[in-house]
Amino acid sequence: MTKILFICLGNICRSPMAEAMFSHLAAEVGRSDEFEVASAAVSEEEWGNPIYPPAAAILRRHGIPYDAVRTARPMKKADYQYYDLIIAMDEANIRGIRRIAGDDPDGKVHLLLDYAGEHRNVADPWYTRDFDTAYNDILLGCRALLKALPHYS
Ligand code: 4NP
Repeated sequence: MTKILFICLGNICRSPMAEAMFSHLAAEVGRSDEFEVASAAVSEEEWGNPIYPPAAAILRRHGIPYDAVRTARPMKKADYQYYDLIIAMDEANIRGIRRIAGDDPDGKVHLLLDYAGEHRNVADPWYTRDFDTAYNDILLGCRALLKALPHYS
């Protein structure tokens, strides 16, 4: 079992999208049992809020279920121990994760698009209003992440 925590700034747009999209990709290839997937924020801004409606709308448009996505919560230091991989949407998230966790002694923290061989951020659609680009980037990263993780039998 690989436990994956997706992280963004608010935990209402990118990281819940990544949580739902990675879970859906894993289900499509019969690999759901291999993963425990969740998401969290590096800020407390949106604590308790549901996935942002435009983010939910784009998931619905692509037929991706998001009913398992919880309301936003900040990452805790204990999450660093619990999860195997902590996947950030942008470089600022990585700084936030390191601040919460007290650095990254186990090398668990990664930028999502690094898995796709593209060292760049998933731009925040909260600010850009471009949910299609965020969706496409998250899909690219999640497909590559799933491919990079070994199969367990
Ligand atoms: P996210 O987008 O990090 O992709 O969830 C944001 C949502 C809300 C805020 C910032 C980013 N906010 O500051 O409220």
